[in-house]
Amino acid sequence: MPVSDKSSSKTPSRARDRIAVALDVSNLEEARALAERVSPHVGVLKVGLELFVRFGIDAVRALAPVGLPIFLDLKLHDIPETVGRSVASARELGVSYLTVHASGGPKMLRAAADAAGDGLTLLGVTVLTSITPAELAGLGVPAPLEEHARALARSCRDAGIGGLITSALEVEALRQEVGDMLLVTPGIRPSGASSQDQARVATPAEAIRRGADLLVVGRPIRDAADPREAAAQIEREIERAWATPS
Ligand code: C5P
Repeated sequence: MPVSDKSSSKTPSRARDRIAVALDVSNLEEARALAERVSPHVGVLKVGLELFVRFGIDAVRALAPVGLPIFLDLKLHDIPETVGRSVASARELGVSYLTVHASGGPKMLRAAADAAGDGLTLLGVTVLTSITPAELAGLGVPAPLEEHARALARSCRDAGIGGLITSALEVEALRQEVGDMLLVTPGIRPSGASSQDQARVATPAEAIRRGADLLVVGRPIRDAADPREAAAQIEREIERAWATPS
């Protein structure tokens, strides 16, 4: 089985299932068309704030016929009661993954975990991949970025959250910290691609070799001349990384 021993035991074993495509587009037709186009080479469809703020649950409904698990990236961050009730609503939608901010604190995370039940995997956002160490320090966080990410990760694990959103650069530290949680990495850039607003980036192969379970890829697929081929290339890069572990 091509699963790195650095990944979680819950990680999917086919390369395509390790790719979540971020459908960051402005209308449902485009989202559905992009999802259908790349679906042979990805395993998860991510609906983010742009689509959800505009279309709400219709975004989830429009993508259901594509037949892939849906990852609702709402990054919930509020008082425990509000987050718990919002997680319960997302659960009714039948999505497979939902994000909450780890910095919402232990009570918020526990309320989220209690509401999620079995079918919905919650992912705790540690430190956004767009944040630099200097920016984090400027926000008044005295700990180094990796240490802060570790603390957030522990808080998620202790609350019963199923996985973490992290940059690939912290994956090894977080794996050591939390063991078998699902580690999901945005900030993925095939080599040579611009990092845009992301600060802590890695190539698909680097993320996989470090032990990431699921790679979130948005603009490198969405903005490619041929999005299906861009997804296929990432799939092949994952297979090559498995064939030549470092
Ligand atoms: O276009 P790009 O590949 O940078 O897209 C990354 C996606 O992952 C976006 O939808 C963004 O909202 C999401 N994300 C992220 N960093 C996090 C959590 C989610 O970039 N920490």
